[in-house]
Amino acid sequence: MIRDLPSTSTRDVVKELLRLRDGVGAMAMGRVLTLVVSVEEDGADEAVRTANDATRQHPARIIVLVRGNARGRGRLDAQIRVGGDAGASEIVVLRLYGELTRHEDAVVTPLLLPDSPVVTWWPGDAPADVAGDDLGRMAHRRITDALAAARPPTELRRRARHYAAGDTDLAWTRITRWRALLASSLESAPFEPVTSATVTAEAAHPGADLLAGWLAHALRCPVQRARSAAGTGLVSVRLDRDGGPVDLVRTDDGADTATLSREGSLPRLVALHTPGPAEALADELRRLDADEVYAAALCEGLPLVRSGGSRTDAVRRGAAPKGPAPVDTGDRTSLDSDRLDRRPPAPTGAEDLQEHVEQRLAEATRADLRVHADKDALGTAVARELARRVEDAVAERGTAHVALTGGSMGGAVVSGLADLVREGALERASWRQVHVWWGDERFLPAGDPDRNDTQADAAGLDQVPVLVKHTHRVPGGADPARLESAVARYAVELARWADAPSPVPELDVVLLGVGPDAHVASLFPGRDELDLVEPATTAVRDSPKPPPSRVSLTLPAINAARAVWLVVAGPDKAEAVAASLDATDDHDLPASCVHGRQETVWWVDEAAAAQVEGQTRG
Ligand code: 6PG
Repeated sequence: MIRDLPSTSTRDVVKELLRLRDGVGAMAMGRVLTLVVSVEEDGADEAVRTANDATRQHPARIIVLVRGNARGRGRLDAQIRVGGDAGASEIVVLRLYGELTRHEDAVVTPLLLPDSPVVTWWPGDAPADVAGDDLGRMAHRRITDALAAARPPTELRRRARHYAAGDTDLAWTRITRWRALLASSLESAPFEPVTSATVTAEAAHPGADLLAGWLAHALRCPVQRARSAAGTGLVSVRLDRDGGPVDLVRTDDGADTATLSREGSLPRLVALHTPGPAEALADELRRLDADEVYAAALCEGLPLVRSGGSRTDAVRRGAAPKGPAPVDTGDRTSLDSDRLDRRPPAPTGAEDLQEHVEQRLAEATRADLRVHADKDALGTAVARELARRVEDAVAERGTAHVALTGGSMGGAVVSGLADLVREGALERASWRQVHVWWGDERFLPAGDPDRNDTQADAAGLDQVPVLVKHTHRVPGGADPARLESAVARYAVELARWADAPSPVPELDVVLLGVGPDAHVASLFPGRDELDLVEPATTAVRDSPKPPPSRVSLTLPAINAARAVWLVVAGPDKAEAVAASLDATDDHDLPASCVHGRQETVWWVDEAAAAQVEGQTRG
């Protein structure tokens, strides 16, 4: 519903808003944030569109202040949109003229909600000191966009001079993916220090400047910023190391991809996922705390960056790569693995070949044991590795699927992820492409505190930036007669995200807790569900572990995953761990029946590892 109020007052706008909210039963206003947009007339329509799209991804109410002609009589024109016309929210567009253009805060204050956060966004020109500005002072976060400024480098210097906690800039948000790719490329062997770095981009590219600042601050090495031709955007980053450089180079086919190459491994084609305006804004709306990494890049790193001359010069000096690395785009899966490089040469004779294949198969199926001190250390370590794995999967394949577990370790891993979110260590743009599933669920009504998903929520799953539509909960219910229907609906949801004919999406990692009887998911020793070969999901009745009714993935569904990680802590699990590691596909030990296609890892604490022979810390 759209209501126009020409030549009105703030009081009348408030009254009309309350009336309309009553009428259409608009969104619950309690916890929602208010996005205040301050924009000139010529950017207004686009700003409203972008804000509206962003708030579909992250609900917020929107107040747009359009600064009209500052001369002449003061006047306020308002337009209110609620319900379907306002996407996921309500939108109030206020056009200010004359004297009122200098009192944006007075106009907007009566429209704010008590105790609810405010974020202010300047899509175009922003005041030099946004935190000191009237609109900025009332905001928890202030979003600017240096790319929209006439002179981006000057704009960044202003942002640095006046930086206050809560400031951010969309030029920074747009390079999230580049940062993630560079960071993860340094996290794998060889762990050599970076001796210098060069970021190459067109001159007016504040994102490239911030990227260079981030590298200078994080790597503490000389960083140069080379200039490419206008219109080329962010071209490349080279990180020099003694053993050879890491190069991230945008491909020139307009495909929003880059090649990532480093000494000792095949170049990979990676997706850049450059966020559009609404996506970048939605990303920023997701957090209310200060972005300390941005602050360090802007205020401490950027002043250390030196000019690297033109791109041609930088290439000639060997400081920047010539272009994207050649990759075989027809066979992407062959590009993703460092293991390929470490493979011993394939044998030639038939017998050798047979032996070689068997050896490889044995290696591939042998479980890997990683021991950490205690349950907390274990939860943290698994969360870190999971984050890395997920972000790599998104970089390589554009998406990732993870199955969570219930039980004590399910909560520990989720709370480890929530800690990473608080540390700012999760690459948020990547997590938006992540799908979360559950290996099993206790069949209880949604929200029941004994459900695995409710316990994951309580452990902090809502802080992990996975989209609600990508969080695939197992349907619940109170009536055991509805169990089969929940099983079927979960199977349909899995199939919806799968590449037919497979009934399950390609799960990158399946996490599994292990019971003292060596059960995994809701697959208990000696039970018939272990024999299933066809369906992806099964009902489990009379479970030995309460509650009695459960929904579980079957063995074939679990074993189709790339990686299966068994996560176990506590002395009561020591026997089950040792016995399962010794056995293979023994239905009395369900944990011995699960293995990933590429990897099976037992993540255990010292107590759980106590009976494993020759255990080593991982
Ligand atoms: C459940 C689980 C189950 C769990 C193990 C281990 O629904 O209970 O999914 O498979 O992971 O029982 O649980 P603990 O870590 O709590 O021992």
